[in-house]
Amino acid sequence: MTTLEKTEAESLQAVSPRVVYLNEYKKPDYQLDSVELRFELDETCTRVYSRLIFRRAPEADAQAPLKLDGSHLELRSLKLNGETLKPDSYMLDDEQLLIQNLPKNFELEVGTHINPQANTALEGLYLSSGMFCTQCEAEGFRRITYFPDRPDVMSRYSVTVVADKQKYPVLLSNGNKQDAGELDDGRHWVRWQDPSLKPSYLFALVAGDLASREDSFTTMSGRKVSLQLFTEAENIHKCEHALMSLKQAMKWDEDTYGREYDLDVYMIVAVNDFNMGAMENKGLNVFNASCVLASSETATDQDYYRIQSIIAHEYFHNWSGNRVTCRDWFQLSLKEGFTVFRDQTFSADLNSPAVQRIDDVNVLRAHQFSEDAGPMAHPVRPDHYIEISNFYTVTVYNKGAEVVRMLCNILGREGFRKGTDLYFSRHDGQAVTTDDFVKAMEDANTVDLNQFRNWYSQAGTPELVINENYNADARLYSLTIRQHCPPTPGQVEKKPYHIPLAMGLIGINGKALSSILENTKANTAKPEHMLALTKPEQHWTFSGVDEKPVLSLGRGFTAPVKILLPYDNEALAFLFAHDPDEFNRWDAGQKLAINIMLKLIDDYHTGKDLRLEASFIEAYRLTLNNKDLDKALVAQALSLPSESYLADQCEIVDVDAIHKVREFIRQQLAESLADDWLRVYEENDVNATYHFSAQDMAQRSLKNLCLSYLLEQDNGKHRQRCLSQFQNSDNMTDVLAALSIFNQHDMAERQQALDAFYDKWQHDRQVVEKWFSIQAGSSLAGALKRVQTLMRHPVFSIKNPNLVRSLIGRFCAANPVNFHLSDGSGYRYLADQVLALDGLNPQIAARLLQSLSRWRRFDTMRQILMREQLERIAGHPGLSKDVYEIASRSLEG
Ligand code: PHE
Ligand code: ZN
Repeated sequence: MTTLEKTEAESLQAVSPRVVYLNEYKKPDYQLDSVELRFELDETCTRVYSRLIFRRAPEADAQAPLKLDGSHLELRSLKLNGETLKPDSYMLDDEQLLIQNLPKNFELEVGTHINPQANTALEGLYLSSGMFCTQCEAEGFRRITYFPDRPDVMSRYSVTVVADKQKYPVLLSNGNKQDAGELDDGRHWVRWQDPSLKPSYLFALVAGDLASREDSFTTMSGRKVSLQLFTEAENIHKCEHALMSLKQAMKWDEDTYGREYDLDVYMIVAVNDFNMGAMENKGLNVFNASCVLASSETATDQDYYRIQSIIAHEYFHNWSGNRVTCRDWFQLSLKEGFTVFRDQTFSADLNSPAVQRIDDVNVLRAHQFSEDAGPMAHPVRPDHYIEISNFYTVTVYNKGAEVVRMLCNILGREGFRKGTDLYFSRHDGQAVTTDDFVKAMEDANTVDLNQFRNWYSQAGTPELVINENYNADARLYSLTIRQHCPPTPGQVEKKPYHIPLAMGLIGINGKALSSILENTKANTAKPEHMLALTKPEQHWTFSGVDEKPVLSLGRGFTAPVKILLPYDNEALAFLFAHDPDEFNRWDAGQKLAINIMLKLIDDYHTGKDLRLEASFIEAYRLTLNNKDLDKALVAQALSLPSESYLADQCEIVDVDAIHKVREFIRQQLAESLADDWLRVYEENDVNATYHFSAQDMAQRSLKNLCLSYLLEQDNGKHRQRCLSQFQNSDNMTDVLAALSIFNQHDMAERQQALDAFYDKWQHDRQVVEKWFSIQAGSSLAGALKRVQTLMRHPVFSIKNPNLVRSLIGRFCAANPVNFHLSDGSGYRYLADQVLALDGLNPQIAARLLQSLSRWRRFDTMRQILMREQLERIAGHPGLSKDVYEIASRSLEG
């Protein structure tokens, strides 16, 4: 049968798709001893030949059929031990090829045809800007050939790539280059051999007319590894930073985890069309161009920072993901949670630990907490899914990282390292579970982590209620903590968690009260400064406390929980000024701002005049003028909580009130501290050449924060300042900061700057993505119209995920006042885009749709409007599994 003639949409689900459950996991009946692949590349009809050597697993039934996955394939030939298989000895449908009556050991040869050009889903083999590339995680390999496409089937691959020599001079696959040659017909070929065991999701192939930059790294045992970055020739000047980051990551992983790279070559390819950020294919990473290419004129500090961390992330996967991989996709956090933790620690070590931690927590609070509180809530190790692509989530990645971080906090750095050493040596070359990871931690440290495992199996964000008491006569301070985790879909009752909580007590003079922790009787966890909350309610008493202390709890954010401190604004302002823990000092400022904002939202609803407390302004003034603080921390401290985090704190989300109140506070701060903003702006406006360093970034971030407050004042001089920064800066950080500020203000400079920016950068697609994204994020009225107009811009293409994310995604997820317009136009627009995209790229469509999933949080009128669009989507015939799952769960949850 041929699925090639079918359109994407026709072969998708007609009825409710099958749900996959964790507890139905079965080991594969057949293991693969070797894989030989031959690709004859052609834009519309690529031929794939595979030779697979299978071996029946010892425990498998002798009658067990071989199940091969396959979709969007045209089966052309099928041979068992050299003999063509008769049609009655196998079964074939849209998703599977099933072969019966098999011997213990056998060789299978499969020939398929595929159409890369028609592949708009960007899974499997596809074309991007004239080059061939692949994306196989999670289940993309089945779009290349019939194969046991599951991570617990690991094998050694030999791959021959054949293609036209002129069009595709560079032919890449995993491992080491073994041989190459030319054919008579203008084609050439290269053979790659990957000595390591790998699952199919780590397979990669790239072919194109690519330029490359090379460097090298000598590993701890003295092996020289060649590092190569491939890109379109026009971007060859943007490779430096990624190569530098790669070397830093390689060194760091040796120093921190004792992990050495294992192949002779490490290749990275930048592609323009990619569903995610990057992919850790063995020895051949494929990167979204926006996550790897940078020059100071075109990339911001944030881009540089993100590139450094993603390069490291993919590199770290070589051990945490590739050499030790996942048994099944429910275990995704085994590699992702751990690897995110590793990249976060790397970034902290190379830059500013406190800033990194604040960024991590901001992501968690703005996105993961709300995921955990909505219909898509799922545990770090989910137990069922319809489409695994929907589970590449902030919960699996970022909460997963927090769970690993808690292990590190409980065991201490040394104990944690013992655990990872054991984990890597015990499971090298295996496909394992999150439980195996925890077991290695236990075995290396002789601790009982049984209760800790609840973090993997239960969804939801635990809440801690704090009660304290100070007895001055007895010099006793006592602390009671109650934990509670709200119900999530399918999980009503939760077992108590094992929660590590770093804490300190602060005296009136701002100094830490000493010796308190020695008296912490109930503390069972290591190291000493960590409380271990394990019961639903737990009590601690501290003796020898000479004055009434202020509690600083959860320092460094040692657990992904909500801490409900019984503190008023005065105590929070005290912590904001005095907590020696940098993270908690920032956090106190955030909590203070939230309290004030919630109160103002109330006032707004009851029609009271809005008034900002003088003490809050004073707290900001002190921080802005605190010369002892890292400038990046000052900038963080003076950034108000995001509208989405604030929304999370509201009973019913009123996007307009939230926006108005936040703007009101910014306005008040802008005017009250006018001189301070200007002075600090000028102090930090040093026109040095661009350098990516923590110090310079800090300076730029503080300067640009000041500029944004300056523009809140109606003052022509400040507008001129902003314009001059926009026109004269030689680095994208400062240019884009100025443009973003104009973009939020209804002034003539706004359109002028946007036009000038486009004129200057229209040839550079990465910068044009920024141009789209900025406009989609403008909270000025009329944004939807502007977004719709931009969709007709000649550069825009709905087939390119970066452009879709920049324009549609940004509008729906980061422009609340315009997206939630009370006439429902934003919702209708989103639904239209989801339906248009679903036939092209279901993964991207499903991601967009998430913006509607938390409809129950809004007022009745908006609930009705959002629900209407969800139902419209859910009722659409031929939906992909991806979109079906998000729509149906959103409606149920
Ligand atoms: N595994 C990739 C990473 O996190 C993400 C990814 C998933 C990329 C699926 C493509 C497809 O490093
Ligand atoms: Zn990853």
